[in-house]
Amino acid sequence: MAEGPWPVVDAPLVCVIEDDQAVQRLLARILMAEGYRVVSVSDGKHALSVIAEHQPHLILLDVTMPGADGHEICRRLRADPRTFALPVIIVTARGAVEDIVAGLDAGANDFVTKPFHQLELLARMRSAVRMRAVVLRMEEAHAIVAALANAVEAKDATLDGHCRRMAHRAARLAVQVGLRDVDLDGVAYGALLHDVGKIAIPEPLLHKVGPLTDADRATLARHPEIGERICRPLRSARSFTPIIRHHHERWDGRGYPDGLRHDAIPLGARIVAVADAYDAMHQGRPYRPARSREEACDELRREAGRQFDPTLVPMFIDEIDQAEAGLPPGVPLPPAARLFAAPHSDDRIPAPAAR
Ligand SMILES: [Fe+2]
Repeated sequence: MAEGPWPVVDAPLVCVIEDDQAVQRLLARILMAEGYRVVSVSDGKHALSVIAEHQPHLILLDVTMPGADGHEICRRLRADPRTFALPVIIVTARGAVEDIVAGLDAGANDFVTKPFHQLELLARMRSAVRMRAVVLRMEEAHAIVAALANAVEAKDATLDGHCRRMAHRAARLAVQVGLRDVDLDGVAYGALLHDVGKIAIPEPLLHKVGPLTDADRATLARHPEIGERICRPLRSARSFTPIIRHHHERWDGRGYPDGLRHDAIPLGARIVAVADAYDAMHQGRPYRPARSREEACDELRREAGRQFDPTLVPMFIDEIDQAEAGLPPGVPLPPAARLFAAPHSDDRIPAPAAR
């Protein structure tokens, strides 16, 4: 294999899916001269099994082939969680606008039209490989956050499923409020990790059944600030640490840790506060039986303008009704909000045995 921009062991593996043998050989020669490793396949029928076997870093895909056309292969790669982020560059003689649109709709990342310019093809491939590395790093960051949420739920039995359910409900409300992109991600992560500070709270206190002393309450009240400190080193923390810190603030200013009131409380923290209270009431706690959906919503209405943002409460109740009716949220939810299935009343889990 010729010298290329990568050490041989790290050379990206490219899968060339192309039925024209001359083009296939030309692509293989160009790519190997640049240091890529290459696996080629000549028909759409075997493409997916070759990809599953070799797990390439990048696909160069012809559109018109025997077996299955390139668009169909692309759609199937995007639908498979193992390959949904795999970069696909369509290499085709069909370069009309409608062909490009059809390819992008099928999930392709980029296009090169035949006859292709070698330098352009290689530049687009380098860009696709870089994008894949970014996506993989984001997936790793997401896995770390999910692992932290699992650690909290494992330590505090009362939280079993609570953080994942809350992330889903809080994100649905955030969508209704109009939050999108980074702000919507922030609410989902903030909800998922709102109680991460409980990792530092002594287990006997988390599991204590019966009335809490003032000292107990003071210790528990440290968890928002501890959670903020735990998450601060994460790269995307700025979007959700204010939610972690302020999820126990109250609309009337009588919450903690900073006694913020009204709009001074970050919007994401106000959203999470409503979703947190609803889930705690609806699921119940060892020291408090579960309430019905209607009872929990009545309590939210009573506390609107005191504990909760009065504009968010009716929106949240409306969103609960929509979820109950099986209606999807207005836009797709971010991954952190999809760790739990749709929150219907019949998915209630039994109240755990300890605080
Ligand atoms: Fe909390």
